[in-house]
This record gives sequence, C-alpha cells and structure tokens, in this order.
Amino acid sequence: MTRHLLTGAELDRDELGALLDRADALKAEPLSSRALEGRSIALIFEMHSTRTRLSFEAGIFELGGQPVVLRRDELQLSRGESVADTARVLSRHMAAIGVRTGPDEMLDELAEFASVPVFNMLTARHHPCQALADLMTLREEFGRLAGLKLAYVGDGNNVARSLALLGAIAGVEVAIASPAEYTLTDAHGATLTTQPAEAVAGAHAVYADVWVSMGDEDSAVERRELLAPYRLDDALLDRAAPGAIALHCLPAHPGEEVTAAMLYGPRQRIWEQAENRRHAQKALLELLVRSEGRHADNV
Ligand code: CP
Ligand code: NVA
Repeated sequence: MTRHLLTGAELDRDELGALLDRADALKAEPLSSRALEGRSIALIFEMHSTRTRLSFEAGIFELGGQPVVLRRDELQLSRGESVADTARVLSRHMAAIGVRTGPDEMLDELAEFASVPVFNMLTARHHPCQALADLMTLREEFGRLAGLKLAYVGDGNNVARSLALLGAIAGVEVAIASPAEYTLTDAHGATLTTQPAEAVAGAHAVYADVWVSMGDEDSAVERRELLAPYRLDDALLDRAAPGAIALHCLPAHPGEEVTAAMLYGPRQRIWEQAENRRHAQKALLELLVRSEGRHADNV
C-alpha cells in the first residue's frame, strides 16, 4: 500500500521508534544505505527553504537517488494544469513526491491522485519532517522520549502543531505557551497556556520558532508586539528542569524569538537539530519508498 506522510499521524509509536533508530544508524554511517539507488524523488517548493531543501537533496543523494527540485513557477501547475494531473504524471516518473506549500488542501489533493508516496515538507498547518528531527535530537540528548516534557513558547503555528501531534505519538508531554490571539487551535493532547513560565516548568527542552511564519507577514507588527514576552532566553530556560536544552527549527531572528546568547551558547542543540533533518528524513524516505505501490490506479 502506498504510504504518505502528510501530518505525521500516519505513524504509530513503534514505527516512529524504528524510524528514529534507523535515523541514528544513518547518522553513524551516512553512506551505508543505497535504498534509493536508481530512483528519483520530486521536491516541489512553492515557498522559500534553506534546511529542508539542503537536507532532502543531500540525503537523497547519499541514499543513491536523484533529487528533482521543482519550483512552482517552473511547472505547468503555475499555468493552470491541475494538481491531480500533476500528481498523475509525477507518479509515472518519481519514486516519491515532497511538497512545501501553503494550503494543506493542495498537499492532500496531490496525495489523493498520486500513486507514489507523498510527504509534507511544510504546509500552513504541519511540519512533520521538522518534528521527526526534533524528536531524534531529544532522544539523542536524553536517551529516551517517553516521559520527557517539551515546552514550546511562541506562535501556535505549523511547528507547534507537529510537535504536539508527533510528541503525543512518542509519549512526550508537550506544553505550549502562546498569546491568546495566536494559540494553537487543535491541541492534539498538548497542554495550552498563555504563561511561558507555566509551560517550561519541569521541561527537558524549551523550543522556539519564528514569530512571523511564511504567509503571516501581514500581521507581523501585531505578532511582534504580542509575542515579545515569549522570547527564549537564559532566564526562561532557568525555569525549566536542570540540564534542559534549547531547540529552534530555524531560521532564527536573534534578539527576537531567541537571544543570540542562547542561539550560539552551550545550552542549545539547535545546530545539531538542523543536521538531524537529513538523517531523520533519510529514514523516512526508506520507509516510504519501501511501501511504494506502482503506477496507475488513479487514471
Ligand atoms: N526549519 C526549516 O524547515 O527550515 P527551512 O525553511 O530553511 O527549510
Ligand atoms: N513556522 C515557520 C517554520 C519555518 C521553518 C514557517 O512556517 O515559516
């Protein structure tokens, strides 16, 4: 059966654990797998990216495959060809399709009409590939996931939602502190509060993301004002559990959602987290492509 990764809810705890085990093994020996030998993987970017593009391109190459990066303005999609027909044609050539786009509905439609795995490289509501790397980083630091507490402080956005959703699958307690105006609309089992100190109490890691996500630029001024009390700094991390680490999915705005001292200091694992994108996504691609159905049921 063709498997997709649209939100992360497609994984159960055992599969997630096995994927992270595999990610650790691939990190230890990056060139040990040829799982994508002779295969091409489409990476459609309708929005900006540094880490996601780099980590998928390099990761696919390390697995013996070929990444095919496609920007929307290069595809007939931007001239009116339907998402469904794009999915049908991509499925005839590609072993899997990654998409970064705004509307989750576009990703869902692509998955509906594709006969190869489709994976989410960020949408307005979800960023599951980021959360996979985040869980890998937590496990690397603490040697386990179940029973850990992760606090997210800031905008209730795609990254917050994916941490809540995948954290719940992994057995991580997730607490999210946001201003009432920007709280997460669906908690997925996470505790929601407006108080950063409440969220970080007893946390093993405190996580920040940008205050102005892609597509939210119109409300940038209001967001910066309301989110100012949610900055990740040493004083906030001091309120977490002893030995707690700072995480950030990047890109960062030092002095805004995270201090420069935290971003480049000894208490963060942020740059390791950025590297772990590649290892976790390689493990994901192995899983998805193994499950691949062959062409054609949808035409
Ligand atoms: N964290 C992340 O997804 O970064 P990019 O937007 O640079 O891909
Ligand atoms: N929440 C951010 C994440 C960037 C990786 C955004 O959607 O822009």
